[in-house]
Amino acid sequence: MTQIRAVLAAVLFLMIHLVGGSAYRRVNVEAGHEAVLHCPSISKLSLLMVTWKMNSNTSCFLAYRRDLNETRMLNCSERMMWKYTPDRDPALRIYPVNLNDEGNYTCEIVSSEGNFFFFFSLTVIVPPTLSLTSDKNGVAVCQATAGKPAAKISWIPASNHSVEKDVHHLNRTVTRVSYISWVNSTHPNVTCLVTHPAVNQTLSLDLSYDSSRIQYLLIGLPASLAVVCGAGVTLCLILRCRASQLRKKAHRSAVETVVSGLWFLCFDDFFFGGGRGVYGVFLCCFVCVHLFLHQNMLFHCNMWLL
Ligand SMILES: *[C@@H]1O[C@H](CO)[C@@H](O)[C@H](O)[C@H]1NC(C)=O
Ligand SMILES: *[C@@H]1O[C@H](CO)[C@@H](O)[C@H](O)[C@H]1NC(C)=O
Ligand SMILES: *[C@@H]1O[C@H](CO)[C@@H](O)[C@H](O)[C@H]1NC(C)=O
Ligand SMILES: *[C@@H]1O[C@H](CO)[C@@H](O)[C@H](O)[C@H]1NC(C)=O
Ligand SMILES: *[C@@H]1O[C@H](CO)[C@@H](O)[C@H](O)[C@H]1NC(C)=O
Ligand SMILES: *[C@@H]1O[C@H](CO)[C@@H](O)[C@H](O)[C@H]1NC(C)=O
Ligand SMILES: *[C@@H]1O[C@H](CO)[C@@H](O)[C@H](O)[C@H]1NC(C)=O
Ligand SMILES: *[C@@H]1O[C@H](CO)[C@@H](O)[C@H](O)[C@H]1NC(C)=O
Ligand SMILES: *[C@@H]1O[C@H](CO)[C@@H](O)[C@H](O)[C@H]1NC(C)=O
Repeated sequence: MTQIRAVLAAVLFLMIHLVGGSAYRRVNVEAGHEAVLHCPSISKLSLLMVTWKMNSNTSCFLAYRRDLNETRMLNCSERMMWKYTPDRDPALRIYPVNLNDEGNYTCEIVSSEGNFFFFFSLTVIVPPTLSLTSDKNGVAVCQATAGKPAAKISWIPASNHSVEKDVHHLNRTVTRVSYISWVNSTHPNVTCLVTHPAVNQTLSLDLSYDSSRIQYLLIGLPASLAVVCGAGVTLCLILRCRASQLRKKAHRSAVETVVSGLWFLCFDDFFFGGGRGVYGVFLCCFVCVHLFLHQNMLFHCNMWLL
């Protein structure tokens, strides 16, 4: 009675999968996880032998003989074993699964009622690594690296101006990159939605932060340069008129020599020194101001703006 029921169950299993359009039962497992392929168990009494045959990259056999209570393995990876005791449930366990395990598996049951075949198609899925970046040209880049199958990328708000590029790797994973040109300053947030059997995720990027930082650089840098230049030129002019004042007095002291020398240094450095000159000007003028204060001189100059 139990034997008849078991056979009926096995036949029903086959019929369901034949009617479903394929004799293959599809199993999807994420890489690194555990795959269990369930071969319908026939009652203990009738089971004589069960054999798993893997037909992918390499062929492997895993067999159990009930009369000898013995398991034999041929060419199988040590990651493949019975999930339970095979006389009770001859399910195949693969852990951890990797991309090379993908392929077709056959379970053959030899019983006193006859032989039964069950077919499985194992697909290994790999979650992609996600990133969303933007470049200085206002192009946002959403990337799903080394996913299997390829991830789907969409943008929020929806846009039909995105450009997609796929790179197919040798291990059958795909890197998909989607580019979108972002010109909407009233809505500076850009969001990409990545859809994949192993991961669904939205990534957001606030481009207003980037653009305000660029604006700060564009305005702040010239402004500070202008302040340094202005201070340098003013101090040099002060120095220059101080030197001519001293010359008028025809009082050639050591101080005057130093001051006029410094002025020529400033002048030369500022106009011929190139980029680094700005800092030189600022430094030498700073030294000059200290000299003046130290000498405790009064500052009179009618034509100092010349
Ligand atoms: C088969 O798998 C091995 C590693 O298990 C791999 O090195 C080899 O490239 C694979 N061959 C094919 C044809 O996929
Ligand atoms: C065992 O695997 C090797 C390669 O890994 C293959 O050449 C050989 O044919 C396999 N043996 C059987 C019996 O499938
Ligand atoms: C079969 O062998 C295993 C050890 O290899 C043992 O644990 C189990 O009890 C045995 N089963 C039977 C039915 O003898
Ligand atoms: C698995 O079987 C299906 C259906 O027969 C076939 O299309 C596919 O190529 C097979 N895959 C491998 C890896 O043999
Ligand atoms: C974008 O696609 C929608 C429909 O999907 C269409 O109505 C619209 O005209 C398209 N816009 C542009 C600029 O192509
Ligand atoms: C597949 O290949 C790509 C590119 O070589 C690599 O980045 C990725 O890590 C690989 N994935 C797996 C699961 O081996
Ligand atoms: C910019 O974003 C706003 C707010 O979402 C939207 O109403 C507007 O249509 C967008 N403009 C363009 C040119 O995409
Ligand atoms: C823009 O993004 C920030 C954080 O990134 C969020 O707080 C804000 O609500 C977003 N604005 C819009 C209009 O989506
Ligand atoms: C991602 O979403 C799709 C469709 O919305 C769904 O089929 C899939 O199972 C989801 N995957 C995960 C990991 O949530």
